[in-house]
Amino acid sequence: MSGQEHGGHTRGFELFHIFQELPARSSEIPVAPEPDPTEPVALTVDDRPVEVAPGETILDACRALGVETPTLCHAPNLTPVNACRVCVVEVEGQRTLAPACSRRAEAGMVVRTETERVRTARKVVLELLGSSVDLSLAGRHQPDGGLAGWMERYDADPARFGPAAAPAEAGERDARPTGHHHVPDGSAAETVAQPVKVDNDLYVRDYSKCILCYKCVEACGTDAQFTFAIAVAGRGFDARISTEWDVPLPTSACVYCGNCIGVCPTGALMFRSEHEMRAAGTWDESAQTVTETICPYCGVGCTLELHVQEDQVVKVLSPSDSSVTGGHLCIKGRFGSSFVNEKPGR
Ligand code: SF4
Ligand code: SF4
Ligand code: FES
Repeated sequence: MSGQEHGGHTRGFELFHIFQELPARSSEIPVAPEPDPTEPVALTVDDRPVEVAPGETILDACRALGVETPTLCHAPNLTPVNACRVCVVEVEGQRTLAPACSRRAEAGMVVRTETERVRTARKVVLELLGSSVDLSLAGRHQPDGGLAGWMERYDADPARFGPAAAPAEAGERDARPTGHHHVPDGSAAETVAQPVKVDNDLYVRDYSKCILCYKCVEACGTDAQFTFAIAVAGRGFDARISTEWDVPLPTSACVYCGNCIGVCPTGALMFRSEHEMRAAGTWDESAQTVTETICPYCGVGCTLELHVQEDQVVKVLSPSDSSVTGGHLCIKGRFGSSFVNEKPGR
């Protein structure tokens, strides 16, 4: 072997070690230790002991104890994104507040849900949302009544930021150049108010009610539909849910599965039938029945929840704990039931 070849081997050996050997200290982000899959996890919430299954969250522990915890961006059938932060709790020994919806419960954790810090954080989140977004329908299906109750519980006062700024014209927010931030003059609270987008027969998008929780993006993307018709566009206060190039839905990649409507917590995405009935003052959930049935269109057998008012199917959902659908449907299950509304002689 020549000296040159020998030198080449040596260099190769050194390079191999530089690129292949692990660094002395890991540069990976630390993660919580994997739970023992056989042992329940024991912790305390507000000084009350509770046990949850391995992998369950602080929110699961709170719910097991009946501790009401507000959530907006959480859904049992979606990956947690920690966007709204209304569920935060204090964990003893930890520097920052933890989102209860995604933080896995750990053995020995001491969790507090009603400290001054937690209450202040939830109050400010609610105030910032309430000052800029129409929350009139947000969290309306939560067991504790949703936003109105939370505002009272946390003494939130969205009006302290001043009167709302004037609503944007149709398309105005969509046209704002990314990254241009104009410092407000302080005379009015910034708002996302804008006209409702009605560009198809099946559902409407009222982004005056959007809290940017990302649920619709997840449902349209890797959590359910894999269509990627919508994403978050823009930055800062101008961030918004958008189709590609803000095109109307009928010319976007949307396949009208309506899975985004099924997960939207604020009523920003809504069946057109519900939107029109609300506008006419005829929407009445107390007069509606919900019938669980099986979709008649194909052999998959998706579970449907038909919401019926005055003999008309007005909305179709699917239970998020259905082992067949996980709460998600296709266009036929979601919107194809209205044919039963057409009765001979009508
Ligand atoms: S209806 Fe379906 S495809 Fe269309 S935006 Fe919503 S989730 Fe995406
Ligand atoms: S449209 Fe609804 S689901 Fe989508 S980000 Fe806004 S509030 Fe969340
Ligand atoms: S519900 Fe936990 S961060 Fe939104």
